[in-house]
Amino acid sequence: MSPNRFALRRSRAAAALAFVALLATAAPAAQAADPSGAAAPRAAAAPDIPLANVKAHLTQLQSIATANGGNRAHGRAGYKASVDYVKAKLDAAGYTTALQQFTSGGATGYNLIADWPGGDPSKVLMAGSHLDSVSSGAGINDNGSGSAAVLETALAVSRAQLAPDKHLRFAWWGAEELGLIGSKHYVNSLPLSERSKLSGYLNFDMIGSPNAGYFVYDDDPVIEKTFKDYFAGLSVPTEIETEGDGRSDHAPFKTAGVPVGGLFTGASNTKSSAQAQKWGGTAGQAFDRCYHSSCDTTANINDTALNRNSDAVAHAVWTLSAGTVTPPPGDVYSTTTDVSVPDNGAAVTSPLAVSGRTGNAPAALQVGVDIKHTFRGDLVVDLLAPDGTAYRLKNSSSSDSADNVIANYTVNASAEAANGTWRLRVQDVAAQDTGYVDSWKLTF
Ligand code: TRP
Ligand code: ZN
Repeated sequence: MSPNRFALRRSRAAAALAFVALLATAAPAAQAADPSGAAAPRAAAAPDIPLANVKAHLTQLQSIATANGGNRAHGRAGYKASVDYVKAKLDAAGYTTALQQFTSGGATGYNLIADWPGGDPSKVLMAGSHLDSVSSGAGINDNGSGSAAVLETALAVSRAQLAPDKHLRFAWWGAEELGLIGSKHYVNSLPLSERSKLSGYLNFDMIGSPNAGYFVYDDDPVIEKTFKDYFAGLSVPTEIETEGDGRSDHAPFKTAGVPVGGLFTGASNTKSSAQAQKWGGTAGQAFDRCYHSSCDTTANINDTALNRNSDAVAHAVWTLSAGTVTPPPGDVYSTTTDVSVPDNGAAVTSPLAVSGRTGNAPAALQVGVDIKHTFRGDLVVDLLAPDGTAYRLKNSSSSDSADNVIANYTVNASAEAANGTWRLRVQDVAAQDTGYVDSWKLTF
């Protein structure tokens, strides 16, 4: 229990005596209300994914290709070495990893699946990318870029020791370039009972194209909005991905009824002048002139695009794996700073800061009031919203001769922003009796 949670600190009998002492004592500094004691843990924002880390993975994938005949293609040594590199990083970070084998074209292929322990096993969020290249090159944009961004996001989950509501699973697919072989194999071999647990699949295939566009898959609306919101926050316009729907590993998931989404910076299509105007780059040139060719090396990457998209991967993983983004009702904000109420005098206010919430206050905002006074009928009490709007809690009444106002009021504050400084305003409108605001609280 935090020290500034609401509490009646004095008995009624002691109140009158204590009141004299209080007037002589400097009031304690206003306490910032801390809702943390009452709130469920709020989803933390995703961290920035360090571009240098993502690029270090690309350097490793390039070295692997260079050491293995210039590619990382299905059935070649460079593919298995790529899998080993990614798997070692994940194992060291605390993932439960598994290699899923399949056969294509007479060669053994591998999917690498990495589960982050924890989360609701009946709600699984997956993010994946294909790790194979074509045989003509190292495949650094296609698809070292997606593979490295997903890897670094998985490592960021581990660094943060993220405890999302959903279970997180990351995947690196084999033999995408031969026709989505690995991802199809994975989906087809998932029992129906496991498929139905997938709440979403996020795909990242080519996200660092040198002449980049910013394309968001036009698929599941929630996933799509999550990406679009991220780019809107950067003031980077996006377009719907149109360079061949179904041409990457989200397709088998979509076919199986799993909500899908993803990002893409363009392959062999040509950037228009309108696109060059809003995104920069070169109009009349392919988004990736090295698509599926030997020049798809570490030189074939647009750092800005890779950086933005990597951060967007993390944003989506954090956002979509969290159950509750806004704090649940029941958060209590309180102040125990005493404010004296002058006899038959001007109104006084007691401030209470509310922060960290989203949206408006509830329609049944609870206002707990503890005012010590020797004739409560003298008092007019209002709640002031952050914008100054007054809500009457209590009128004066010359016949109401009891002590104190210790009461709970319900206010429809749904027209008011939750965050800001709320005030309790108290005025003593008749002579002879005095008192003070002992404490008050808001329950959202
Ligand atoms: N590897 C994909 C392919 O060759 C690249 C690609 C083309 C793509 N169009 C796409 C990826 C659309 C995602 C979305 O087919
Ligand atoms: Zn590809």
